Order: sequence, then C-alpha cells, then structure tokens
Amino acid sequence: MICLWDSQNSWDFSKPREPCGPEPAEAWAALGLSRPPPEARPALHWARREVPPCLPPRVFLPPVLSRHCVHSKASVLGDPAPRGRPQEVEILDAKTREKLCFLDKVEPHATIAEIKNLFTKTHPQWYPARQSLRLDPKGKSLKDEDVLQKLPVGTTATLYFRDLGAQISWVTVFLTEYAGPLFIYLLFYFRVPFIYGHKYDFTSSRHTVVHLACICHSFHYIKRLLETLFVHRFSHGTMPLRNIFKNCTYYWGFAAWMAYYINHPLYTPPTYGAQQVKLALAIFVICQLGNFSIHMALRDLRPAGSKTRKIPYPTKNPFTWLFLLVSCPNYTYEVGSWIGFAIMTQCLPVALFSLVGFTQMTIWAKGKHRSYLKEFRDYPPLRMPIIPFLL
Ligand SMILES: NC(=O)c1ccc[n+]([C@@H]2O[C@H](COP(=O)([O-])OP(=O)(O)OC[C@H]3O[C@@H](n4cnc5c(N)ncnc54)[C@H](OP(=O)(O)O)[C@@H]3O)[C@@H](O)[C@H]2O)c1
Repeated sequence: MICLWDSQNSWDFSKPREPCGPEPAEAWAALGLSRPPPEARPALHWARREVPPCLPPRVFLPPVLSRHCVHSKASVLGDPAPRGRPQEVEILDAKTREKLCFLDKVEPHATIAEIKNLFTKTHPQWYPARQSLRLDPKGKSLKDEDVLQKLPVGTTATLYFRDLGAQISWVTVFLTEYAGPLFIYLLFYFRVPFIYGHKYDFTSSRHTVVHLACICHSFHYIKRLLETLFVHRFSHGTMPLRNIFKNCTYYWGFAAWMAYYINHPLYTPPTYGAQQVKLALAIFVICQLGNFSIHMALRDLRPAGSKTRKIPYPTKNPFTWLFLLVSCPNYTYEVGSWIGFAIMTQCLPVALFSLVGFTQMTIWAKGKHRSYLKEFRDYPPLRMPIIPFLL
C-alpha cells in the first residue's frame, strides 16, 4: 500500500503555487505510473478547477486513486475537513519549521483563540496574547475569532507560530503615554527647580498665551486619557511591551521640548498678538470637538465587547460630516489641533511635533483606508485617507 503525499510536502507554503501546474509526478511514479491513467484525468481536471489560485499548493487526489491510499489522512489532504469531526492541529515554528505541538481531536468549530489556549497548556511561556498563528509562515496572523473548520485546511491543520514578545495592555500603554506629557508639561509650566535657573523657581509667566497654552495642552491630554478609559472600544487587548519605550520617548520627549520653550522666562509671544492667539484657539477648539465627535461615532459602530468593524458614515453631528471626504477624520482633526497649538504658541518644537504627528498619522490613515477598500466592496469612492481630495 502506498501513501501518495505527506503532510510536509503538501503544505510547503514557501513554494509558489501553480493553480494549474504540473501533476505531482512523484505521486504517480509511486504507483508505478509515468502519467495519470486516462480515467483519472477528468477527475484531476475537476480537482484543479476547484482550487482557487490564492490557496497554498495541495494535492487533490482524484476519487479514482483514493483506493490506493493506506492513510486516509494522506488521501484527503487538501480536501476540506469533514464537518463535525474532530481535527488534528500541528503547530510549527514559523522560522525554523520545528514542530512545537500536536493537538489531537480538536473540535472543528474551535476558534483560533481556543487553539491558542490549548497551545499555552504545553508552552506556558507563550500566553495567548503573545502568540501569532498563521496559515503561511510569512502570512498574516489569523484572527482570534477565526473558526478552524472555516479555514482552508485539511484534516490535519498546519499552523505556523510566531512569538510576538512580551505584551502589555493597550489601556496601560495609553495611560502611560498620555499621563507622561500632561505631568511633564506642568513641571515646566510651574518652573520647578533645576530647569530655568534658581531665580525663576516657581515663578509665573507674564504672557497670557503661556497660560492659555498650558490649559490647551492639559485639556488635550486629559481628554485623551478619559477617551481611553471611557470612549474607545479597542479590538486588540495588548501590544508589544517594547513599543511603550518607543512611544513614550516620542510623547514625553516632545512634551518636554515644547514645554521648555513655551514656558521659558525669555519666551516671545506670537507676532500678531491677541488676534493670532484667538484664531489659533478657535482652530484648536473646533478640532478638539471634531476629534471627540469622531471618536464617539467610531465607538457607536462597535457594540460593547465586540470587535465589529463597519464603514463609518456621517451622523447628525456636523463634525462627523468629514467622513464624507476622508477615512480617518479623527487624525485630520488631531493634526488640526496641533496646527492650532503651533500658531498659538509660535514655537518651532510644536511645529515639528505637528509635522511628525502628521507624517505618522498619514501612514496609519493610508493603511486604514486600504483596509476599508479591501474589506468593503461598497466603500465610498470619494474618500481620501486623511486630507480631503489630496492625501
Ligand atoms: N498626536 C499623535 O501623534 C497621535 C497619533 C496617533 C493617535 N493620536 C490620537 O489618538 C486617537 C486614537 O488613535 P487610534 O490610532 O487608536 O485611532 P483609530 O484607529 O481611528 O481608533 C479609534 C477607536 O475606534 C475604533 N475603530 C476605528 N475604526 C473602526 C471601525 N471601522 N469600526 C469600529 N471601530 C473602529 C478603534 O478600534 P481598533 O482597536 O479596532 O482600532 C479604536 O478603538 C486619534 O484619533 C488621535 O486623536 C494622536
């Protein structure tokens, strides 16, 4: 008795797939045949037509040959797993392809989250949040809610594991990132000792704009902290711990740099005085209201406790009408707020912070815009990622 194909060969994702490629010659040779017998050809043709080109290479054995196989596992590789029957799941290291775990009798309706929990039992150092399981070693991570029997796998599902590194909860990340700038800015505002020289300790600026800037800056970060706690409904529970160092350096560093100049005893107020400050304040307030309105609209798209993603549309709130033109109006408003703050304070580090923030948010907005286009066929065509009609 002959086994035609083994699971290692049939699931080599590194090889480019040929949707109508050559027959598995070795398989026919193993049967002592140089080519498929005539009766097998129609079946082969049928089998190939059924394989979408996006799927990884597999062997679909024609029905006529199944009697030659000893191992039913081999003969059905590539066929969808029989509905309702327990499946086997093997987990390989995505880098080394070393087999890390073999799970027997997994329920076909098990989710990836449940498989992660089973994997954790044998490898407690990799708790579920730090696991990424994929169908392809270099492919995208499967979602926790993906169901085994709906994946394009055979009776033995091969999943590839990547360690995402130590994780930390999003809420902790945001609280740390946002509480830092709030606190740091106030140190400079109150001119605590060892910043500007002894004679300025705990003195106060004589310029109104400096006090206004402190109010705006603090308001912005308090708003973000409250939104993190009470508004956003994040779909990911955690993020890699190493990101927090990078993000905190960015937020805390810029806050210190901006605050140092704005609260400096030798700070020069804006060129056009009160008029410039009033205009800037109006931009800042409008953009803050806009940003908050978009966050509320995004929150309302997702029922509590779910991870649903929908196309956001304008609501009755006029601030959300920007959704007609851009995919991420919250970023547009965020950038607008910082431009307002830069005009108000006329301070170079603030302008640089706005520019860096704009660059980063444009990259994210483009990614989110692409995802919307990919996910929703009826996505409004007029929208741009972040700047109406431009970008
Ligand atoms: N100054 C800066 O450098 C800077 C940089 C970045 C962010 N920010 C500020 O921080 C805010 C939040 O940033 P973010 O990157 O987390 O914004 P975001 O990706 O737009 O997400 C905001 C919230 O809405 C959810 N959401 C987004 N699109 C959704 C959809 N189609 N359906 C359902 N829910 C959806 C998100 O959930 P998910 O968890 O699923 O994404 C998240 O909880 C920004 O709006 C901005 O004000 C500032």
